[in-house]
Amino acid sequence: MNNITVIGSGTMGNGIAHVFAQFGYQVTLVDIAQTALDKAMVTIAGNLDRQVKKGTLTEDEKTATLARIQPVTDLATGVANADLVVEAATENVGLKLKIFGEMDQYAPPAAILATNTSSISITQIAAVTKRPAQVIGMHFMNPVPVMKLVEVIRGYATSDAVTQQVMELSVNLGKSPVEVNDYPGFVANRILMPMINEAIYTLFEGVSGVVEIDTVMKLGMAHPMGPLQLADFIGLDVCLSIMRVLHDGFGNPKYAPCPLLVNMVMAGKLGAKTGEGFYRYTPGSKEIVPAR
Ligand code: CAA
Repeated sequence: MNNITVIGSGTMGNGIAHVFAQFGYQVTLVDIAQTALDKAMVTIAGNLDRQVKKGTLTEDEKTATLARIQPVTDLATGVANADLVVEAATENVGLKLKIFGEMDQYAPPAAILATNTSSISITQIAAVTKRPAQVIGMHFMNPVPVMKLVEVIRGYATSDAVTQQVMELSVNLGKSPVEVNDYPGFVANRILMPMINEAIYTLFEGVSGVVEIDTVMKLGMAHPMGPLQLADFIGLDVCLSIMRVLHDGFGNPKYAPCPLLVNMVMAGKLGAKTGEGFYRYTPGSKEIVPAR
């Protein structure tokens, strides 16, 4: 397996392209907008620079990594020679089903089609293709170059051979893959999101403040970020949509999204990416202050 195509050049897509290219794979990075691809290449170069500064990568390795990434705007061309495609487009069911239908049409018949979805059913996505045994979840964590986990999700029809190949490939990227089955939220978000939602309820009910709640979890449980800061980092819209997948998928009221989360998303306060969520963010600065 040598030719990898990544669909979508946002935060997750550019991180995935970065890691595959760093570990020697030829990467085609697909996005509909050239401006998004240009921005992604600048981001990848910046993140590779961090690794060079740290001494974990040489300047020559950085140059070679960037040279292995070919940005393209056409999906059909982008997947034509792929051994594996990793889809990391916006977290929207309709969009993912459309992309998988197209990828199935244009990718070589032997290619594995993976999705980086954080919560959409792999089985549902696989069902729009003629190769459901070759469709699998490859869920990377943000920031992709730093986080060791790949959650490898087997859909209802995913074959043992394909699962094995994707597990081995993840190890070749320096990651520690974990195999899980396809149920709402998989493992990562089934556990993470109710914790974040509960932190939001704790704030909503006035039990404590933003900084206090995060401090409890950072200092008490050794989490690198408190749950409210992590929610801002992930995106409150993403958190809400994952809670809805859990709520709909299990039909259990314990997964009901906190009304404060719903309100903040409706108000457009989506976290770091919009400059405000539970905290306020200033571009170019690491300093954050509680929004209220
Ligand atoms: N590329 C390369 N390196 C990066 C990077 C990137 N995009 N982002 C951070 N780094 C490196 C930095 O260079 C730094 O390296 P050194 O410590 O060796 O110098 C290191 O990572 C730490 O970064 P910072 O010093 O900037 O900041 P930090 O110490 O506060 O760590 C963090 C930042 C790694 C993001 C840390 O806060 C953390 O681990 N947070 C939790 C992340 C997490 O939980 N991610 C999962 C989210 S859930 C998800 O992704 C899936 C989903 O479905 C919702």
